[in-house]
Amino acid sequence: MTRSASGAPADVLVVGGGIIGLAVAWRAAQRGLHVVVVDPRHGGGAAQVAAGMLAPVTELQYGEEPLLRLGMASNERYAAFAAELTEASGGHDTGYRQCGTIAVALDADDRAELRELHAFHQRLGLDSQWLTGREARRLEPMLAPGVRGGLHVTDDHQVDGRRLAAALVHACERAGAVLRRGEAAELLVEHDRATGVRLATGERVTAERVVLAAGSRSHLLPGLPPGVLPAIRPVKGQVLRLSVPEAYRPFLSRNVRAVVRGGHLYLVPRENGELVVGATTEEQGYDTTVTAGGVYELLRDAHELVPGITELPLVETGAGLRPGSPDNAPLLGPTALPGLVAATGHYRNGVLLTPVTGDLVADYLATGTLPELARPFSPTRFTKVPA
Ligand code: GLY
Repeated sequence: MTRSASGAPADVLVVGGGIIGLAVAWRAAQRGLHVVVVDPRHGGGAAQVAAGMLAPVTELQYGEEPLLRLGMASNERYAAFAAELTEASGGHDTGYRQCGTIAVALDADDRAELRELHAFHQRLGLDSQWLTGREARRLEPMLAPGVRGGLHVTDDHQVDGRRLAAALVHACERAGAVLRRGEAAELLVEHDRATGVRLATGERVTAERVVLAAGSRSHLLPGLPPGVLPAIRPVKGQVLRLSVPEAYRPFLSRNVRAVVRGGHLYLVPRENGELVVGATTEEQGYDTTVTAGGVYELLRDAHELVPGITELPLVETGAGLRPGSPDNAPLLGPTALPGLVAATGHYRNGVLLTPVTGDLVADYLATGTLPELARPFSPTRFTKVPA
């Protein structure tokens, strides 16, 4: 029986057992807190679909410099985080791979856009090197002959979201966090303070602090007072998984990305031969249907970029939901409701921001002070009520 089930509140109740909730739980448990994580399926969620590109530099958007700092901080922690997680989980490898990324242009417009991105990288002092088409193809011979140039970013890497989730589940359990299977049906609020949740079974799980880490459904938890969290919009991404036969390896040696017809396209080659192709960006509610149109567009664009891709077995299609906050940046730390802490809204960067989110939110839970790095991402930026 867990402490919470026996009636005494846990220190921390995490609502949502995806990679963000699990990273917070693992780090908090390591700091001696008694943690319970509620989810119908721990380790599920968007990480089961995500390609796992760790791309703070190549996914950089203008005006998002605070997010870049957070992304770079997480990227810098990744190698140590992955090694510690493998050890703490009893040997579960995360598929973390320091492979670098090239972003290439297929036509003159894409090339002009990449040139601007390169100038922006240089202004910010980021490691980003301009490549001619020939240089890009020398690095990745499977690229189409028409590639017009690109960028080589040696610090944007990859991890396998599924293996990361599995390792976090094991590390949480080994650190003493209680993974409680169930659906949170209502946030409990007593005397204007979050005190736990009622599960769909009717059972109550109580805690000193509640961390809301339920991705694109975070703001939908019944009982959440109005205005505490902004609406988190679900942004669908369809993703394909192909398999590179031994004889064709290495098909690609690093992540390859491009903007094709205005959409982000990326190919993430894993060491085990899996090749992940993503992703569509669709805003149409909580729908995760894989559509013929989505698969067609991804294959059409990927074929334009890497023609040999049509020879590979297509082994899986899937769709996930990115949790998009109103400014596309995450919500980290205490909310306007005492006792309620947010770790959500990571949009396109959930896998990248997992290590830093775990560290920053657990730091807040253990010390009561939100670290400096997290302050631009306070959930209270969307509330009128003082925190
Ligand atoms: N970070 C990749 C995506 O959201 O599609």
